Amino acid sequence: MRAALVLPVIAEMDSSRRRFLEQAAFGLSAASLGSGLVTEILAGQEGTRRAAPPISIASANGLAAVAKAVEVMKRGGDTLDAVIEGVNIVELDPKDNSVGYGGLPNERGEVELDASVMHGPTRRAGAVAALRGVRTPSKVARVVMERTDHILLVGQGARDFATAHGFENVDLLTPESRLAWIRWKETLSDRDDWGPSPHTPAPASPAGQRRLEEERKRESDILAEQIAGGDEERLRELIAWADEVARRPPTGTINCLALDSAGDISGVTTTSGLAWKLPGRVGDSPLIGCGLYVDNDVGAAGSTGRGEEVIYINGARTVVEYMKRGMSPEQACLEALKLIAARYGNDLEKLRDIDVNFYALNKRGEYAGAALWSHTVNSRGQKRRRQFAFADSSGARLIDSAYLFERR
Ligand code: GLY
Repeated sequence: MRAALVLPVIAEMDSSRRRFLEQAAFGLSAASLGSGLVTEILAGQEGTRRAAPPISIASANGLAAVAKAVEVMKRGGDTLDAVIEGVNIVELDPKDNSVGYGGLPNERGEVELDASVMHGPTRRAGAVAALRGVRTPSKVARVVMERTDHILLVGQGARDFATAHGFENVDLLTPESRLAWIRWKETLSDRDDWGPSPHTPAPASPAGQRRLEEERKRESDILAEQIAGGDEERLRELIAWADEVARRPPTGTINCLALDSAGDISGVTTTSGLAWKLPGRVGDSPLIGCGLYVDNDVGAAGSTGRGEEVIYINGARTVVEYMKRGMSPEQACLEALKLIAARYGNDLEKLRDIDVNFYALNKRGEYAGAALWSHTVNSRGQKRRRQFAFADSSGARLIDSAYLFERR
């Protein structure tokens, strides 16, 4: 039975944009609304966004990537070159802890990377999963596409393939990502042996006391002090960040899609996956049809966020299929997000910690980003609006994503 929901006024709605409430069509039961968590269900219609190609869109961490992708296409470069050159900037950036070099590691402290590429004009794809020791897994995915008759290589096989094609084996852990991992290990349990011994007898002498205080420092505190190099504010930021990612393992990723003026489309998705994952865990990013899909006759889509949810609904392929049936990129992304919500019976308490974002563009130059939730919230309650990156010939910018649920 569909409940007639009484929905409050949308307080934060930008009046220049039009969103339509879809309470009847969405079919939520009153019981499925969490207590005070969410106040309305939005099936947003921002008014379809459209731009003249070359254009590129990406997850919010891809501002530099979309700018680069458009630059490459303006020079006459292929759309796949464009998106790979774009995401390489993020893969190589040690400050982005969700992708490539500096990505947060698995539970053993090993960085395992996933990536996929899809080239619209030749209708081909390549991917790697649980790949170690390569800063730019998107480039290895491309070689899988171009130099093999396979689509996906994983683990040691992917590593050996990368070595055979000249990719050197490098340490992907930065001091910051190692700090975060050690912090997570130390705070995981008080029933394991990570952290200083609580059983050391207290020495009588002042020198002995000072020495014990030093010994009682956690490894992560020592690492943070080394990284901060005496900068107290940086030290506080580092510890706060390490505590945050230890408490809430993030799933960062970059997806980047591009359309050129000939109407060709390509895409790439690349990630270090879920922080502290089990070794060998593979998310949606390297799975064609899940984290990425391109149909050169229709459009392209990709995803970021909790990969397991996207795999369940074959997210990117689903979004492209919806566009093929006539939906705008934004409608298609929101419809796919509804499939995720439906898997939980639209129970917003169960959905509250799930983070999924879709990005889509079509052959006409229409594009969108849409998120399950309007905002992210960290463990200190700080909210950040969900956005996506866009670039055309006039430049690159971040745009607020459409969303299914508003987080208050
Ligand atoms: N979406 C990235 C992952 O779940 O691995």
